[in-house]
Amino acid sequence: MMVFKVLQLLVLCLVSAVSSTNRTTFVDFVSTCLNGRYQKIKPGPEADLFNQCKPWKDRSCCTQETSEGLHTSEPWLNFNWNHCQQLSPECSKHFIQDLCFYECSPNVGPWLVPVNMKIRNEKFMHVPLCESECTNWWNACKYDFTCLPNWGGGKGFNWTTGQNTCPSWSTCKKFSEIYTSSSNFCETVWNYSWKVVPETEPCMHIWFDGSTGNPNDKIALEKAKEVANSLIG
Ligand SMILES: *[C@@H]1O[C@H](CO)[C@@H](O)[C@H](O)[C@H]1NC(C)=O
Ligand SMILES: *[C@@H]1O[C@H](CO)[C@@H](O)[C@H](O)[C@H]1NC(C)=O
Ligand SMILES: *[C@@H]1O[C@H](CO)[C@@H](O)[C@H](O)[C@H]1NC(C)=O
Repeated sequence: MMVFKVLQLLVLCLVSAVSSTNRTTFVDFVSTCLNGRYQKIKPGPEADLFNQCKPWKDRSCCTQETSEGLHTSEPWLNFNWNHCQQLSPECSKHFIQDLCFYECSPNVGPWLVPVNMKIRNEKFMHVPLCESECTNWWNACKYDFTCLPNWGGGKGFNWTTGQNTCPSWSTCKKFSEIYTSSSNFCETVWNYSWKVVPETEPCMHIWFDGSTGNPNDKIALEKAKEVANSLIG
């Protein structure tokens, strides 16, 4: 995995340096989108983005249509969050914000690893999520219900009907009975896409005010430098 990532970055840098006149700063190298069903090839401005995805509109990997779709078409990417019962509105909001990050964030480049799925060829892993973000998400969801801790790739669910339902051997329980802590929830639910870290460490925000820029730009940049340094050193 690591070797692939390093090679990928190296190739990216070389290709960029040779074939593109637009890439002038290191920021451009981390300005990439996850290779998935709905993400754009490269991040760029959108006239507007729907509702909760708005903060990403100045530099986005999602189109306006995608940003609206993820709010309004249930289930998005065919995965039903309401497999036990309807999630509470507050909890849904947090999952929608997480989806906005998934579809729109231009800052996941340094954490991408290849996967072989219908809906994407890459996923991000161990992206540092600020502890406060996770705590808020957890507090909104801890009394909601699920039957499986790890929703990653929909694995383990029963897909007989074409949509994920709880396998017959499982039981719907409160999140607070399924997960051992807020961090355990945030990290497990999407198969370790997130790694919860204290605010004192560089970490991502999924809720932010886009009018003052994207606070995650510098987090991705730092990580990219770290990866680049590991190439040299
Ligand atoms: C460079 O930027 C121009 C104008 O913004 C754009 O039309 C062109 O597609 C870009 N080229 C690449 C390789 O990104
Ligand atoms: C979680 O990710 C690992 C590594 O990519 C993969 O092997 C595993 O199948 C995934 N598990 C689930 C439940 O998606
Ligand atoms: C999966 O769902 C189908 C249709 O509802 C059901 O007949 C089957 O027993 C289920 N299997 C498991 C393992 O849940």
